[in-house]
Amino acid sequence: MDGTLTQNDLSHVVEADKAHVWHHLVQHKQFETSDPKIIVEGKGMRVWDQTGREQLDAVSGAVWTVNVGYGRKSIVDAISEQLMKLNYYAGAAGSIPGALFAEKLIDKMPGMSRVYYCNSGSEANEKAFKMVRQIAHKRYGGKKHKILYRERDYHGTTIAALSAGGQEERNAQYGPFAPGFVSVPHCLEYRAGDQGWGDLSGEAYGQRAADAIEEVILREGPDTVGALCLEPVTAGGGVIVPPAGYWQRVQEICRKYDILLHIDEVVCGVGRTGTWFGYQHYGVEPDFVTMAKGVASGYAAIACCVTNERVFDLFKDDASDPMNYFRDISTFGGCTAGPAAALENMRIIEDEKLLENTTNMGEYMLGQLEALKDKHAVVGEARGKGLFLGAELVTDRTTREPMDEKRTAAVVAEVNKRGVIIGMTNRSIPGYNNTLCFAPALIATKDDIDQIVEAVDGALGTVFG
Ligand SMILES: Cc1ncc(COP(=O)(O)O)c(C=O)c1O
Repeated sequence: MDGTLTQNDLSHVVEADKAHVWHHLVQHKQFETSDPKIIVEGKGMRVWDQTGREQLDAVSGAVWTVNVGYGRKSIVDAISEQLMKLNYYAGAAGSIPGALFAEKLIDKMPGMSRVYYCNSGSEANEKAFKMVRQIAHKRYGGKKHKILYRERDYHGTTIAALSAGGQEERNAQYGPFAPGFVSVPHCLEYRAGDQGWGDLSGEAYGQRAADAIEEVILREGPDTVGALCLEPVTAGGGVIVPPAGYWQRVQEICRKYDILLHIDEVVCGVGRTGTWFGYQHYGVEPDFVTMAKGVASGYAAIACCVTNERVFDLFKDDASDPMNYFRDISTFGGCTAGPAAALENMRIIEDEKLLENTTNMGEYMLGQLEALKDKHAVVGEARGKGLFLGAELVTDRTTREPMDEKRTAAVVAEVNKRGVIIGMTNRSIPGYNNTLCFAPALIATKDDIDQIVEAVDGALGTVFG
């Protein structure tokens, strides 16, 4: 830490936090007898808390966000210059960074053409849902309005986004939900045994999991289904890399039934899996791509709902109709700090060749996690793409009985004692909060990865012997 705040200064901060801050995703009873964690400073891959303790952040700000690492002065400078020039104007007008970032972003997304700015992943997904609904009204008398989502996927925290949420524990107690959202089966091959499709693996499993989507479409009626919303690699639902053949078949099904394909890149977007976008591994042509977290690495709030020209055209085809445009606004979608930061974030990824680093370091880390299987019987499967990885813990490799949540959490805590922050699936799928999650910044080196994996190795040894 740079010494501008001493530990004494921070005792008041801790008291103020305990007295007045309602933390995200946290049960607060514990703070009657302990202090909340306050992160004070970050540099590169490391953060320091209120006690001055250094920790290697293997989850990029806990929720896969700080893709280019902490303490990037060039992003701070870009934001500061832009804010002095113009901090805000509503998105009905354009801005210089808004136009320039849209141009740069679309350059990375062949086939896509329009960027709608807003300020969270949930909101970006809601924009796509609203566009699907409006298209249904404009073209299909409101009938083709249903939105399909997949078990284990997550699309955000608002009631509409939770309505498209495939994680039962995240949704529990927040219903009733919005109508017109229908779930399709997950595609986690490691858990194929629970799906009643027999003993399938590889491409045969991928085809079967995609065919299951077609079955839902036929059951609901293709003329009622407007869109299919999927994560390219499922994040909080267990770091699920889709099986071979899955995406090609999904695309075929969408084309066959004239269903718009919405890919939620809130986590995978802007480099996390080693390509600019996760869907680009699979040759898919989406109609909507939503993104948030890594777009500006958390230096400013920004989210985008990107569409192709076919979707965009549907909102301008009849200018004589006063209702025939996307009648939506996001106040903070007009903040200029977001696109200013996003432009610089993208420059860093390009100039420092961070996509290549993500691919190389991701392969290395996956190999190291797989090697842990030889030492620890509780590691059932290691999986992931780029620097987005998971290790699913089981009590028995043959039956694949999931490890209970408490012992999985004990591993995370033990890893933290060793100076490394990792995550785990959390309030996600009942009985399956058993996957350790890793998403180090795209700047991670071999040494960083060794430190992370050594901490996990040690923690597994301590918790399970
Ligand atoms: C895949 C996915 N989509 C959407 C969201 C929601 O993003 P936000 O928290 O910015 O609303 C998240 C958040 O974790 C996510 O993982």
